[in-house]
Amino acid sequence: MSASPRTVDHEAPVRVPVTVNTLLDKKHHGEKLVMVTAYDYPSACVAEAAGVDLVLVGDSAATTVLGLDSTVPATTDELVMLSRAVRRGLRTAFLVSDLPFGSYEASDVEAVKTSQRFVKEAGAQAVKLEGGGVMVDRARAIVAAGIPVVGHLGLTPQTATALGGLRAQGKSAEKATQMVADALALQDAGCCALVLEAIPAAVAEELMPLLDIPVIGIGAGASTDGQVLVWHDLLGLLDGRTAKFVKQYAGLHDQMVEAVTRYAEEVRTGAFPTREHTYAIPPEELQRFQGSLAQLHGGAHRASDVQGYPA
Ligand code: KIV
Repeated sequence: MSASPRTVDHEAPVRVPVTVNTLLDKKHHGEKLVMVTAYDYPSACVAEAAGVDLVLVGDSAATTVLGLDSTVPATTDELVMLSRAVRRGLRTAFLVSDLPFGSYEASDVEAVKTSQRFVKEAGAQAVKLEGGGVMVDRARAIVAAGIPVVGHLGLTPQTATALGGLRAQGKSAEKATQMVADALALQDAGCCALVLEAIPAAVAEELMPLLDIPVIGIGAGASTDGQVLVWHDLLGLLDGRTAKFVKQYAGLHDQMVEAVTRYAEEVRTGAFPTREHTYAIPPEELQRFQGSLAQLHGGAHRASDVQGYPA
């Protein structure tokens, strides 16, 4: 038994579920969009309680929760399972699931089939795919199948090897111009939003007036319609270096180590558990129980005296 899940907070302000239209409305009213990644039920509940607009089950789960070196090995089964857990924790936030590397690139049919799994099995409201070029066709096919798509340009970690590593993109006039062309093509293909990762702020500023769809930045400066951060980066859940664009709003890794260390100490010294953590039995019941034990074992004092107990 532990903390009871799914308690309803009747004091919480009533919020209306976020849809693709809400995202557009907020853009048009100049209201910043807030997106975070989440990978499980408790983090989804926290994101919901904090009132974020969008939650992304990113393939960053590969590195943040599965301990892998890159996002490349993430599988559809893994991300569907994590998305289902996140879905259970959300009431109003818009749920986007990442299509993992190798699950959509080869054909439109594959892209649609994988996207349908996220919608049918996990309740995702949109899927996100990385890159321009031929991925624009994949995006168009998924949109034509009735599934909202979020594009992702700039640093696209699934193809980081081809980009020369996890580094900022769009730093030459040619690369920045290509990115603008890809962004316009993704918009034209029907994407409902676009993520821009690790690009110069000045490039994002030039791109923003050209786009009608909401743009969410991560390391793209302040001009975008919203921001996204990875859950573990935002909360300082992992030990180690983070990207330049990360701002940590808490240092939970150190707090968790401290808490588990204190728990270990208290178990070892006997300071935990105390009376307040134990269950009582009415004294008369205890007495009857002891009496029935004595009868059962005919006064046996050691466990090995009890019939049937291995010596
Ligand atoms: O996988 C992920 O977390 C992402 C965000 C960085 C946008 O794609």
